[in-house]
Amino acid sequence: MGRAFPLLRTQTPASDAERSAILSDPGFGRYFTDHMASAAWTPADGWHDRRIAALEPYSLHPSAAVLHYAQEIFEGLKAYRHADGSVWLFRPEQNARRFQRSARRLALPELPEEDFLTSVEDLIRADEAWVPATQGEQSLYIRPFMFASEAFLGVRPAERVIYSVIASPAGPYFPSGVSGVTLWVSSTYTRAAPGGTGEAKCGGNYAASLAAQIEAREHGCDQVMYLDAAGGAGNLEESGTMNLCLVTADGELVTPGLGTILEGVTRDTVLALAGDLGLTPVERSLSLSEVRAGAENGDITEVFAAGTAAVVTPVVGFKGDGYHFTIGDGTPGKKTLEIRNHVLDIHYGRTEDTYGWMRRVI
Ligand SMILES: Cc1ncc(COP(=O)(O)O)c(C=O)c1O
Repeated sequence: MGRAFPLLRTQTPASDAERSAILSDPGFGRYFTDHMASAAWTPADGWHDRRIAALEPYSLHPSAAVLHYAQEIFEGLKAYRHADGSVWLFRPEQNARRFQRSARRLALPELPEEDFLTSVEDLIRADEAWVPATQGEQSLYIRPFMFASEAFLGVRPAERVIYSVIASPAGPYFPSGVSGVTLWVSSTYTRAAPGGTGEAKCGGNYAASLAAQIEAREHGCDQVMYLDAAGGAGNLEESGTMNLCLVTADGELVTPGLGTILEGVTRDTVLALAGDLGLTPVERSLSLSEVRAGAENGDITEVFAAGTAAVVTPVVGFKGDGYHFTIGDGTPGKKTLEIRNHVLDIHYGRTEDTYGWMRRVI
């Protein structure tokens, strides 16, 4: 058991009426619960000052290292309410371990897995009233993060670091039914290169992705599809916040191998479930030309993107400089929807959790 994050309850929580109004239409990332978890780190004291207290702004010196050198990492996971009122997390240990890997890459101190889990669970317990009811596939989105708060100028690892967890109620990702997206294959921007920070979940990766997102929007696409930085073969990597998977006519579920992409929890889940759904999981490089030819000759029947926010987003087409091709008949694939529903059934306790992935909080 990790050390507790003692609760100092806020004196000014949202009223029941305010919270109910928010929960009736939370959207995504717009509202936050009453409390936040936090802890501080210095080389001398290690992790200390663990607590759950009122959600409030930080007071940071203008030279705080994060503001200049982006020494920051984060995680994203969800708490799900089941029909019997209980509240569960899905594979949070995976997020705790990825947070440690990201910390190593950004020269931040590693947070013990038990501290990660305890802070997340104690925050959910403090703000249980904010976990939406089970209907409509709503959830409480949890955002743990860590940043360099030390005040100094100069490029070196900071010696004062803050860890926090905030939570935000999230409505259904596809309120009017699951729809497919067309991905913009950027030939201007790449996301990661070998030896870079592609495998880390650090804020800088997302800052660098914004120009590519604007480019995608300008071409009528919601999301970007990145190619690898090596150029040459033009291998597909991942989307802005989701891993790429495809289904082949001969029953394979293929996804690019690890190295420069984020090791998604949903990606790993889908690979583990593939066999149960009659598909063979395969991790290998996927070139744009292979996907284009496969989409045209029918070897590739479905494409989807996998990530915590949407679980599974059907990909119905790809657009790039001077080309546009469609996957299948341009509508969400059958296997894609089967996988999506299966993962959601596990999240919401509607099917047996045969892999022991769910962790009860309340
Ligand atoms: C770049 C990127 N790839 C993939 C993912 C999917 O990861 P996960 O399934 O753990 O949410 C995310 C979301 O965290 C992401 O930001």
